[in-house]
Parts: sequence; structure tokens; C-alpha cells
Amino acid sequence: MNPKHIILDTDPGIDDALAILLALASPEVVLDGISAVHGNASAEQVTTNALSILELANASHIPVYQGCDLPLVKESLLSPETHGNSGLGYANLSAPATKPQIKHGSDYLIEQIMSHPGEITLVAIGPLTNVAIAIRKEPRIVQNVKEVFVMGGAIKHQGNTTPLAEYNTFVDPHSAHIVFHSGMPIILTPLDVTYECIFLKEDLNRLLKIDSPITKFISDSTRFYMEFHDEYQKIDGCVINDPMTLALTYMPEICDYQDLYVDVDISTGVGLGNTFADFYNYEKKKPNMKVAMGVRPRMFMELFLERMEKLAKTIS
Ligand code: RIB
Ligand code: CA
Repeated sequence: MNPKHIILDTDPGIDDALAILLALASPEVVLDGISAVHGNASAEQVTTNALSILELANASHIPVYQGCDLPLVKESLLSPETHGNSGLGYANLSAPATKPQIKHGSDYLIEQIMSHPGEITLVAIGPLTNVAIAIRKEPRIVQNVKEVFVMGGAIKHQGNTTPLAEYNTFVDPHSAHIVFHSGMPIILTPLDVTYECIFLKEDLNRLLKIDSPITKFISDSTRFYMEFHDEYQKIDGCVINDPMTLALTYMPEICDYQDLYVDVDISTGVGLGNTFADFYNYEKKKPNMKVAMGVRPRMFMELFLERMEKLAKTIS
């Protein structure tokens, strides 16, 4: 089967970094490029991080485009407490030798989707600002994108940023609203399934049996992320939302899905950024996305660990 052509719209970020590494370790996909978006750190910082992560994995041929640095309406909300000031926890990657491309990240999305109709799988694992801007600038990308995998939202699960809202949809709820109601073919990976997939210390110890800059990076970055999860959520390990979303592009059987009408709260109350599904179809509206609501956690974790072991053995 021909590999899927993917573009990652991402805010690296520790779990974003793991998603980039998983894409590079998965022959089922070709990572055509990265559009970086504000979120876990500033747009400039996440762009630098994306370049450094690609260099770490000998993949500097993959282009990186800097995108939006602010949400559509709200104030910026970065997450140093979760991902560290650098966005990569305790990892200390050298400054990248490569530079980002000149074009804006949202223009890169438009260019690639319109010049390869029906061929691009967009994997959006940060706040949806770049994607929303791209839709407003070129609405035809809605019909021309092959599929859009979105990491975001919490349907029945509690929020991870407010009691009701997940980080990506809370940081930029207005962009999420544009994307959710655009008509794009969306597959949503919410906290309902990602919180079942905890990267444990024993998983990390298995990877550390391989001496490689890749396993050192995974250890240094996830150690910070595990400390955050322990302190803020009393979780032993860390929730690796983004690589799980990436894995579904070629191993959909990891999850079970429901076609649902999902909306995001853009009112100014306590529910801002909350995502909710109309399970009983009160609104009589057609489903606007496929939502992963069930998951086989160890199927994903085994895939992730196997692919990281394989990648680590190629990078010395
Ligand atoms: O809520 C988790 C999501 O927000 C992940 O994509 C994480 O990287 C942050 O962007
Ligand atoms: Ca992310």
C-alpha cells in the first residue's frame, strides 16, 4: 500500500516531538512537511524545536514553516509548566543549523492541499489557528484535503486545562469552532482515549536499553512531562496524546469510533473551549466528525515502543 502523505501542524512540545519521531519511524507515512503553531511554546520556539528534532533524527530535508503566534481572538496561553520554557522539558538539543522556510505555515497548508487534491493527510496536534486561517484564506481546502486528524477536545472526559476544556481547544476555541464546522473530514482524538495511553517509567526504561541520542532525548523530555503529570494530575507516567493521534493515520484499529456532531463552546463563561457531542442527536444535525471513543492502549504503546526502538538503533 502506498504511504500516506502527511503534514503535521504542531506545537512541539514534548508529545509533539514524539509524534514527529513516530512519523519518521513509520514507513506507512511520508512526512512531507511541518507547519508550526503557537501553543506549548511561542511560534518561534516551537519552530526552532521542530528543526532541532528533525536534525536529531537526521531528517533535516523535511521543511518547517512557522505559523501563527497568537490565537484568533484570545490572549496567548503557553504551557511552560507542562513542557518547560524551551518546550522540550529537560532535553537540551543543539540550536538547529537549518532555518524555517519563508512561507507562512497557513500558506504552506493551502499550497500543499490545493496542489495535491485528495492526497494530503493533515495531522493537527496543536491549537488550530493555522488550520482555521488556512480555511478562511482558501475555503476550497475543505474539499481538497484527504482527511484531517485532530488531537483535541474532551468529550466525556474532564479537561486538562480547565475542568471542562482540553488545552488545544481552550487555547484557541474560535479556531477550533471554525475547523469543527468547516466540513473537513475530521477524525478527532480526544482526551477520552489519550488518557488511557500512559507512557510509563518501565516503558522509558525499555527504550533506555538502547544507547542513542533518540532515547536520551525521549528520557530528558518525558522526565519533565512525567513530573508535571505527577504534580498536577497525580498520574504515574505521562499522557502522550500526539503520537497516538499520528498512529491512527495508519493503524486506525487502535481505536473504536463514533460518528458524532461535536461542538466547541465559544461563549465567555466557565465552559470556554469545552467540546461536547450530541449523542442523542437533540440538535438533529449531521455528524461533523468521527470521534475515537474507545482504545486498545497496549496496542498503541507496543507500536510506539517498537518504532522508537527501531529509530533509536539507526541514530548513533
Ligand atoms: O491537551 C494535549 C494537547 O495540548 C497536546 O497536543 C499537547 O502537545 C498540547 O498541544
Ligand atoms: Ca501538541
